Amino acid sequence: MKSLMMQGTQILATGSAVPDFSLSNEQISQIVETSNEWILTRTGIKKRRILTGTHQSIIDLAVVAALKALNKIAMDASEIDLIILATSSPNDLFGSASQIQAKIKANNAVAFDLTAACSGFVLGMITASQFLQNGSYKTVLVIGADTLSKWVNWSDRSTCILFGDGAGAMILQSCSKLDNQILGFQLNTDGNYCNHLSLLYEEEINPHPILNLYQGSFKYISMNGKEVYKFAVSQVPLSILKCLNSLNIDVNDIDWLLLHQANDRILTAVADKLSIDTNKIIMNLNKYGNTSAASIPLALDEALEQKKISNNDLIVISGFGAGLTWGTAIIKWKY
Ligand code: UT7
Repeated sequence: MKSLMMQGTQILATGSAVPDFSLSNEQISQIVETSNEWILTRTGIKKRRILTGTHQSIIDLAVVAALKALNKIAMDASEIDLIILATSSPNDLFGSASQIQAKIKANNAVAFDLTAACSGFVLGMITASQFLQNGSYKTVLVIGADTLSKWVNWSDRSTCILFGDGAGAMILQSCSKLDNQILGFQLNTDGNYCNHLSLLYEEEINPHPILNLYQGSFKYISMNGKEVYKFAVSQVPLSILKCLNSLNIDVNDIDWLLLHQANDRILTAVADKLSIDTNKIIMNLNKYGNTSAASIPLALDEALEQKKISNNDLIVISGFGAGLTWGTAIIKWKY
């Protein structure tokens, strides 16, 4: 999609946070019938962080990630105009972003949630860039955060091995077109396949005794892993190629491939399809599992901490997951 860019978008800082408790594959194999070997060879995951106890919530993780990003550039939270919280596991269905706004004291910011599961961060970042490029806002905080450990069925071995909890934040600001870092994007949804990965609201069997009203609740993540796998491996490379073509960028010019951290086999298959060297894949899912909307900013923040990314490096970022929704953004990194 072409955007009428009046100003550019600069990425000022990133931050991330994960819970303290680490759950290994060996520990999971004491809960369901699985093994370290099966999980490692099928997914690349060795462990994941889980929010245990009652004292911490997704908000705490998001707040720590946001404050880390703010501290890196010594920015006062009052400078933020907009907060977008990409999450599919809010602690309030009416929206959790406002709790973050209050906790970090971003008193001048409007705040809202964006629900797009594992593609949430890419969609949040692109949404933010539209507000910045059309001049509506100067500074936006985008957070990808999920605590899917609260929503997996811990007796379903096909899903409970995959997910971990975490949060990642990014501060973006409007700038001159010359300094623009988000070069382009390509977003897609195909709702015909929404049943491949969902967390559905389920009604109770019996209605209210007086009103003919069925109430219910959200239950557990349900996934057809094989179909999601095939979808990711076929559609993500196409999205990346479309985006690169629209920008006249050759795939050989890509320095880093930063995909949603779902499964190491998906990441390497996408790289292979695009003939991108596997050394260019940014991957940390072995430590954190699939952290849904948090996975891309978490991996980016870690890669930056490790000083992997150099000035002017081109990074392809792609998210994919429930919806089904998937999309790509091409970023030129600038320090
Ligand atoms: O953010 C997007 C989120 N979703 C994804 O990224 C999921 C994408 N899909 C995947 O990553 C893979 O499909 C999985 C890792 C989920 C599963 O790997 P697979 O190679 O597609 O395995 P499968 O579902 O075809 O199952 C193969 C076998 C089955 O046994 P049978 O029928 O061959 O006897 C399963 O019952 O492995 C069995 N199995 C397990 N065995 C041990 C499934 N889960 C487990 C397990 N431990 N945890």
